[in-house]
Amino acid sequence: MLFTVGFLSLGLVRAGAHDLDALKAQYRRPSAIPFPETAPFSPQVATLGKMLFFDPRLSGKQNLSCASCHNPSFGFEVPVPGAIGATNKPLARKAPTVLNAAWIPILFWDGRAPDLETQAMGPITADAEMDGKFPEIIARLKGTPDYAAWFGRLFPGVGVTQDTILTAIATYERTVVSGWAPFDRWVEGDAAAISPAAQRGFAVFTGKGGCAACHTGWNFTDNRFHDLGLPTKDPGRAAFEPDAPLAKHAFKTPGLRNLTYRAPFGHAGQFANLEEIVAFYEGGGLARPSKSPLMRPLSLRPEERTDLIAFLRSLTAEQTQTALPNLPN
Ligand code: HEC
Ligand code: HEC
Repeated sequence: MLFTVGFLSLGLVRAGAHDLDALKAQYRRPSAIPFPETAPFSPQVATLGKMLFFDPRLSGKQNLSCASCHNPSFGFEVPVPGAIGATNKPLARKAPTVLNAAWIPILFWDGRAPDLETQAMGPITADAEMDGKFPEIIARLKGTPDYAAWFGRLFPGVGVTQDTILTAIATYERTVVSGWAPFDRWVEGDAAAISPAAQRGFAVFTGKGGCAACHTGWNFTDNRFHDLGLPTKDPGRAAFEPDAPLAKHAFKTPGLRNLTYRAPFGHAGQFANLEEIVAFYEGGGLARPSKSPLMRPLSLRPEERTDLIAFLRSLTAEQTQTALPNLPN
């Protein structure tokens, strides 16, 4: 009798280990960055794009660059709910990270840009962001000998144009990938890479917590739009899908890499830290017709809460280094 019980439970442990391996496999890092056929990887174009990303000459007053709001020191975000643009007023939405943007098929919190090239045009010309005008920017870059030479060499016969500027920036952004995190080493088989608490937190994340319903894959996002039931007047995705019942107040699921550098959280930076966002999920959000059916109140024990947070922290890369480019003068 005892033997049978022992045998059965051994079988269960085996099945459990097998399931865990299958689950881990869903979160394996991809081996290569997906570059579109229309903008294949070129290290030189990416280097040029990096200069442009950090160059305030792309803004109307020459005082703001992409990196002003997507700062590598803060996980390619800024540590405020609303970044400050050219009008000196905080923007209504939080600047999301550009980390792992190569894998994000639809850009902005409401998905209004279909690719990184189109996306980059938005902030350059938006009066509340960089307030730039392409004819002026193009003239400025053409008048900078190093830029003129680089563009001439990398885009022969085309040189500095709106399109080549956007291609270069997007190519650079696709190279901005979050580094190896302890969680990745654990997924690859190093059983001690993350703490027992983080391992239990992974079980909460993928099980009882229901988090993995939306935060899927190695970058922890399904790239879809969900209304979590947050108090907000922002229509979110409904601005583009007015007839979709679940689009109201729905925002794109953000990836969860390098969170420890990226507070505050949420589309309006409404959560100061991970503890606050987990407390929100426990409440399940405001009841309203557009709220995702995947959102329901959770009752976590205090240790499940700390385990979940330990897991989220294990997604931060061990080493993050971004050398600043020298800009041509
Ligand atoms: C003044 C601050 C500011 C500046 C400058 C700025 N951004 Fe942003 N960025 C934002 C905000 C805010 C959003 C989110 C807006 C929204 O979703 O409606 C955003 C969204 C993005 C996204 C979408 C990420 C995603 O997951 O959907 C990318 C990519 C991006 N910016 C790249 C850039 C690039 C490239 C530049 C320079 C050409 C730039 N940004 C300049 C504030 C800024
Ligand atoms: C129904 C889909 C869904 C589920 C389930 C879900 N999330 Fe989210 N998550 C989102 C969306 C959408 C946002 C953006 C929220 C906003 O501000 O509108 C988000 C934001 C976050 C953020 C902030 C990230 C950032 O960059 O700002 C964290 C952290 C997070 N979720 C963790 C979790 C955890 C932990 C769970 C489980 C307890 C969970 N999520 C369950 C969709 C979901």
